[in-house]
Amino acid sequence: MRLKDKVVIVTGGARGLGRAYGLAVAAEGAKVVVADVADGKPALKEIEGLGAQALVVECDVSREADTLRLATETLAQFGRIDVLVNNAALYGSLKRRPFMEIPIEEWDRVMAVNLRGLFLCARAVFPAMKAQGKGKIINIASGTFFKGVPHYIHYTTSKGGVVGFTRSLARELGDFGIRVNAIAPGFTPSGENEKNMPEAGREANVRMRMLKRAEVPGDVVGTLVFLASDDSDFITGQTIVVDGGGVVH
Ligand SMILES: NC(=O)c1ccc[n+]([C@@H]2O[C@H](COP(=O)([O-])OP(=O)(O)OC[C@H]3O[C@@H](n4cnc5c(N)ncnc54)[C@H](O)[C@@H]3O)[C@@H](O)[C@H]2O)c1
Repeated sequence: MRLKDKVVIVTGGARGLGRAYGLAVAAEGAKVVVADVADGKPALKEIEGLGAQALVVECDVSREADTLRLATETLAQFGRIDVLVNNAALYGSLKRRPFMEIPIEEWDRVMAVNLRGLFLCARAVFPAMKAQGKGKIINIASGTFFKGVPHYIHYTTSKGGVVGFTRSLARELGDFGIRVNAIAPGFTPSGENEKNMPEAGREANVRMRMLKRAEVPGDVVGTLVFLASDDSDFITGQTIVVDGGGVVH
């Protein structure tokens, strides 16, 4: 039980990889807060099925009031915030198209969720982590930033921002005992994102890897648990690419 009684918030925890993160930390003894715009109750049931405590908070990470309420409700229920997993993003639902065809409003919305969301959530949990003298913020980036991927420029640009945000926030928060790291997964079929990825793209992803097979959510959760746990206490400001060796940086 590497996360016994730690309180872990997972944004975008209702579905996809976020749901897998919630289950993985619960299996290690954590209390989990599922924060999502989508219905988090099915994820909650699964987490409780493991014998763990959980809470659902309806939260749009791009809205400051929602993120402040997320922190308040977490503290009211569990009394502390040990880990924030900044996983929510506009991703699977985005249409792949040339940059000239991306509506400007869509660009703005991607930045609002994928970047302002991290900023707002980090600000919301900071007072509690500061008072505790310790905390972990884990941001979810993407291998697409390191590769450069066409027809997805708002998404890949936002994920580059996640890497910069991670490095800069880690420099600011080290003196408070707060570690800030990122994980950059490779393409991992997780439901929504499968509709937008052509077969040729999937095959190319696998071909470019040192370990030539499709990635599954279970490939990423080990790194997530490690970064959430005390085992990684002297690691901060880093981005760990978890993609079977598709990207070297
Ligand atoms: N699956 C992959 O191949 C892959 C690869 C690299 C990085 N990632 C990153 O991992 C994370 C999860 O990916 P996924 O495949 O599970 O994505 P997904 O699109 O299936 O799930 C994203 C989740 O975030 C939630 N969400 C969206 N907007 C929100 C908002 N404004 N406020 C709160 N919640 C919101 C959605 O409801 C959903 O539950 C994302 O940050 C994504 O960019 C995924």
